[in-house]
Amino acid sequence: MILVAGGAGYIGSHAVIELYNKGYDVLIADNFSNSSPSVLDKLELITGKRFDHITVDLCDLEELKKRTKEYKLSGVIHFAAYKSVGESVSNPLKYYANNLQSLVNSLKLCKERDIRNFVFSSSCTVYGNPNQIPVTEKSKIGKAESPYGKSKVISEEIIQDYHHTHPISICNLRYFNPIGAHESGLIGDYPDGKPNNLLPFVTQVAAGVRDTLSVFGDDYDTHDGTCLRDYIHVVDLAKAHVNAIEYNVKNEGKHSIFNLGTGKGVSVLDLIKTFEKVNNVPINYEIVSRRPGDVEAIFADCHKAKTDLNWIAELNLSKMLTSAWKFQQNILK
Ligand code: UFG
Repeated sequence: MILVAGGAGYIGSHAVIELYNKGYDVLIADNFSNSSPSVLDKLELITGKRFDHITVDLCDLEELKKRTKEYKLSGVIHFAAYKSVGESVSNPLKYYANNLQSLVNSLKLCKERDIRNFVFSSSCTVYGNPNQIPVTEKSKIGKAESPYGKSKVISEEIIQDYHHTHPISICNLRYFNPIGAHESGLIGDYPDGKPNNLLPFVTQVAAGVRDTLSVFGDDYDTHDGTCLRDYIHVVDLAKAHVNAIEYNVKNEGKHSIFNLGTGKGVSVLDLIKTFEKVNNVPINYEIVSRRPGDVEAIFADCHKAKTDLNWIAELNLSKMLTSAWKFQQNILK
């Protein structure tokens, strides 16, 4: 059985489905601090299976140990973390305390229960403002701009240090920009309050929940002046976690790092125009000044994931944008 820490969250819930599709038993651990228990019902609607779950704060080690005791665990996928860049700037201690303690506790659980298969959610944010794109796993770790970003850099260091003395199998997955939703339209990215990320804002403007999208800067050195990102469908991303679990089994004791993206740089305006076209909905937007801390352009070199994990992103930008719009429309029903 695989423990999915943060399994009710945006990426975690999609990973639960893909694990289930490949025949894995799953135990979801979540405290619903940034998700809803209704996700468990949605997962049941999608798969026909009521997943085992425990409501637990990963920062509470004793409770985590107690509540997982009865389950035979062979792997842990650690998603449980806060992820709002802006909030991390205004409340850094909340981010360091939660994101680091929950990771340490997941590793302590592995140690105590002799679980030797660990997958970690990292982010391309660790590359900071890269000197060269696409970035490979060997590219230099940059200066993270936010406490959120720094919490990912420190998490990677914690994992590396732990691995020196406890060489279990570990995949450290660096996500580029996950967007989109499950094809059912039942689960997706559901930000609490005003969205920080681009696509949830776009879908809310499309739905009339918000008036205008602010595009942060059109004077970057890119083909249309807006920032380039490597947007990846959350379902593709979720599938990579199953590959990582399998890779860990075959590569006992190895610590590996993988970029997960499509390898394509898409600008903010490319994304808006494609959204309007594939969904046939206009997006009201205005160009405003740059957002402090934004990286001009980043996208992934994903060759390592292809060769070693046997994984590539299959779903294109249109699929990302139609699925996100379907999910947004379902929220309003
Ligand atoms: N953007 C806008 N208007 C908005 C929101 C975003 O123009 O209202 C632009 C940004 O300036 C950027 C692009 O859209 O150029 C993407 O921005 P996001 O906020 O969606 O994502 P980031 O690339 O800033 O990445 C952040 C974190 C990552 C994290 C990712 C997904 O830095 O670590 O969000 O949560 F992985």
